[in-house]
Amino acid sequence: MKVVSIVGARPQLVKLAPIAAAFAEDGCEHVIVHTGQHYDADLSDVFFSGLGIPDPDVHLGIGSGSHGVQTGNTLAALDPVLAAERPDWVLVYGDTNSTLAGTLSAVKQHLRVAHLEAGLRSFNRRMPEEHNRVLTDHAADLLLAPTEEAVRHLATEGLAARTELVGDVMVDVCLRVRDDVARGGQPRPALPDGIDPDAPYLLATLHRAENTDDPQRLATLLDALAGLPVPVALLAHPRLVARAEQHGLKLTRGALHAGRPLPYAAMVAAVVGSVGVVTDSGGLQKEAYLLDRPCTTLRTETEWVETLADGWNVLVPDPRELGERWAATATRPAPQAPRGLPYGDGRAARRVAETLRRHLA
Ligand code: UD1
Repeated sequence: MKVVSIVGARPQLVKLAPIAAAFAEDGCEHVIVHTGQHYDADLSDVFFSGLGIPDPDVHLGIGSGSHGVQTGNTLAALDPVLAAERPDWVLVYGDTNSTLAGTLSAVKQHLRVAHLEAGLRSFNRRMPEEHNRVLTDHAADLLLAPTEEAVRHLATEGLAARTELVGDVMVDVCLRVRDDVARGGQPRPALPDGIDPDAPYLLATLHRAENTDDPQRLATLLDALAGLPVPVALLAHPRLVARAEQHGLKLTRGALHAGRPLPYAAMVAAVVGSVGVVTDSGGLQKEAYLLDRPCTTLRTETEWVETLADGWNVLVPDPRELGERWAATATRPAPQAPRGLPYGDGRAARRVAETLRRHLA
């Protein structure tokens, strides 16, 4: 079996780590294509080295641009690569512009496409990720769903026959790294200046277009974070840095201390060291849940609805609407309620390899 993985953005590299390991164990031929959607070392290189992922076989060097430019350039650059490789499966990950471009290039060449993390829905049609995941699911041949909820969404859209529940590969990597951190196998994370790692701090990230691109909205969110009674370590994505600069907004002020994004293991250590997480990232909502930290999500909805049970994750679309309850919400202690295993048992990547083989036979 030959599989081409198409990745390009930070969260896809995290998902690629357990997949690459499972494919190596399975003995299949695995070709890694990096689109270059993310090109900063902080968002790309450190994930390959830190998670032991083999170097990409092909690097397209696409870079940033409007959605049309980024998706279109990736699509055009992928055509000859997939034509030359002719794999048994093209594996696309998540919901980025690289995911959609990879899917389109593959289906047009009659190559089988499997979508990892299929079936997630925010039902918010203003999110670029929502267009990408819906279009990818409807074009792909095999839908590898991480949760029962995702399976239900796919069934509702008439896609049950192509769906397989495999679990979430993020659990595989998160729990492995958590154990490594607990054993002392990782150095202390480089938190932003002004954050004392031994005193209580909140860990924050903010990068979604709907939060960063409207200056009013971004200012509101930054003000809310800066006004919290606990120091906030803000790990600033380049998109956030660029937009804040453009709108003349300061990222370090009041409780807020901005620093660079962290490599994966350092991120896990930083979550474990925190008293809670405030974010708009899908991956981080789940990591907080898996690592027993309360999460406050600065969005109107979440794809990872399982995290909302018992208040492990709380949605705050607009902190101003909470008034004085905002600080109490963001700094609330972790709930005591036990959690099941809605994201699987940490063996999802192996199940992906098995499922691809079974469907080929
Ligand atoms: C992308 C994904 C998003 C995912 C996120 C993870 C899409 C539509 N969005 O968002 O779903 O959650 O990755 O990080 O695919 N930039 C840099 N250096 C980089 C990458 C980006 O400076 O290495 C800056 C540029 O200013 C660029 C902006 O960030 O214009 C946006 O980058 P882009 O890849 O388009 O989207 P993300 O916001 O990273």
